[in-house]
Amino acid sequence: MKVLVVYYSMYGHIHRMAQTVAEGVREVPGAEAVLRRVAETLTPEVLEAMGAVEAQKSMSDIPICTVDELAQADAIIFGTPTRYGNMCGQMRQFLDATVELWLDGSLVGKVGSVFTSSATQHGGQESTLLSFHLTLMHQGMVIVGLPYTFQGQMRIDEITGCSPYGASTIAGGQGERMPSDNELAGARFQGRHVAQIAKKLTD
Ligand SMILES: Cc1cc2nc3c(=O)[nH]c(=O)nc-3n(C[C@H](O)[C@H](O)[C@H](O)COP(=O)(O)O)c2cc1C
Repeated sequence: MKVLVVYYSMYGHIHRMAQTVAEGVREVPGAEAVLRRVAETLTPEVLEAMGAVEAQKSMSDIPICTVDELAQADAIIFGTPTRYGNMCGQMRQFLDATVELWLDGSLVGKVGSVFTSSATQHGGQESTLLSFHLTLMHQGMVIVGLPYTFQGQMRIDEITGCSPYGASTIAGGQGERMPSDNELAGARFQGRHVAQIAKKLTD
């Protein structure tokens, strides 16, 4: 059973979360995790101005996802940073290229799940996750979030991401905060949870 973890990350926060989601997938016997990035759409000049060049280089070993790979997966976990309370344009462009899958119903009945990051605590994590789910529903996917059995989302003793809609991390205004242990535990839980459900659906 193949679980695709496909993401965009500009500064590495979603990249870190994606690696941990994949570790969670691999905890389920028989589940293979495949990590992919979506293609960049910004020009090198814009990336330079945004201070993203070094971070992009550090992720360059992760292959770029093709639309066919979505169809081949048994479950797909998407990762995107928040952009004005929504998914990033790179991910939107990738999803807008999946119309053939929609026409064929290729993703109908597969598990779909989303994780995210934002600079600020209330900067749109939930709106990003929930609005992403709309696209997955149009594709006929079975939405899986992050249930409260991941009790780390109940914590109030420290600032933390994660909600019933999916794992998340708070990156800080300058991207200075990397995912916390609690947020990574949520990412791992989500990966494992998706793989467990996908396994039941594919049996
Ligand atoms: C164009 C743009 C829009 C953004 N919009 C938001 C936002 O609405 N709320 C927020 O908290 N952070 C916002 N951010 C910050 C990003 O979400 C943050 O840099 C990202 O989550 C870090 O993850 P990454 O390192 O994987 O890219 C925005 C960043 C950019 C470049």
